[in-house]
Amino acid sequence: MTTAEHIDSLQSFEIRERDVFLVTYPKSGTIWAQNIIALIFELDDTDETIYENNLEKMPWLEYPEGHSDYVSRPSPRLFASHLTPALMPRGLKGKKAKIVYVARNPKDNVVSYFHFCHAWTSLETPKSFEEFLQQYLAGNVGGSSWFDHIREWHTHRDEYSILFLTYEDMVMNLFEFISFSIILLYLYGLTLPMLVATVLPQDLRSAVVKISQFLGRDLSEAMLTHIIEKATFKNMKKDPKANYEFLPEDLLQKGKFLRKGIIGDWKNSFTVAQNEMFDQVYQEKMKDIPFKFIWNI
Ligand code: A3P
Repeated sequence: MTTAEHIDSLQSFEIRERDVFLVTYPKSGTIWAQNIIALIFELDDTDETIYENNLEKMPWLEYPEGHSDYVSRPSPRLFASHLTPALMPRGLKGKKAKIVYVARNPKDNVVSYFHFCHAWTSLETPKSFEEFLQQYLAGNVGGSSWFDHIREWHTHRDEYSILFLTYEDMVMNLFEFISFSIILLYLYGLTLPMLVATVLPQDLRSAVVKISQFLGRDLSEAMLTHIIEKATFKNMKKDPKANYEFLPEDLLQKGKFLRKGIIGDWKNSFTVAQNEMFDQVYQEKMKDIPFKFIWNI
């Protein structure tokens, strides 16, 4: 829970040069990027900065419970947030600290959100997907409107030191996978399992490289491989530091944060009519925002 007083107090929250903020609209891959950033800074860990889990290591700016040490934490401090620019600390505008913004295509985002409402006990359980879709499009969900969130961050991007990434950037693109596989198959005679192992983490790899370069971290090849391995869906699901299963069951049903982790799951929930209606709204609201999403794999 947060309070209006806490949100107001964030305006004057003192920013340090080495602070890192991960900003997302809910259900856009926050805990995934949170894990990647936490791992990028793992080598710096001292007794003081080894935390039990990623929530402790990279706490929510707007949910301060149990984190009274925001001010006294050593640098680099890592924070996650779903806030829009207007509610973020004013000091961020000096481009002192870094912001990693992760966006996800809104069709998969709304489906992920819909399922999450069934798992997170303090959220109202929607009666149907149709009902939730209408609320989502109207911005009547926690975190307000997906469209406004993206628009505001994109419009104000020059005021911040910010890296925009998409969830889809971090997942394998099937077209690239097939083309790359064919090349490797012919050139090097690799077998199928070797191909999968070689090719699959490629997009995750470029996302990790992009994030670490933006954060000014020079990663060794071994560290890069370690982070990629720890950040795959399968491994994160097993990782008690990263999978949020440490949350009590009266707050979140076990195993529900890492649900499917794929691109294109929206097709299992959207009807043809819902899809057409969504496309119209999307085209209208996003016509001047040059964000390109991958919708299918
Ligand atoms: P799904 O519900 O579609 O599976 P957030 O952390 O912002 O709440 O986002 C949660 C979404 O990110 C969930 O999507 C979850 O499965 C997905 N996710 C988390 N870790 C992931 C990973 N390592 N690989 C792919 N998707 C991941």
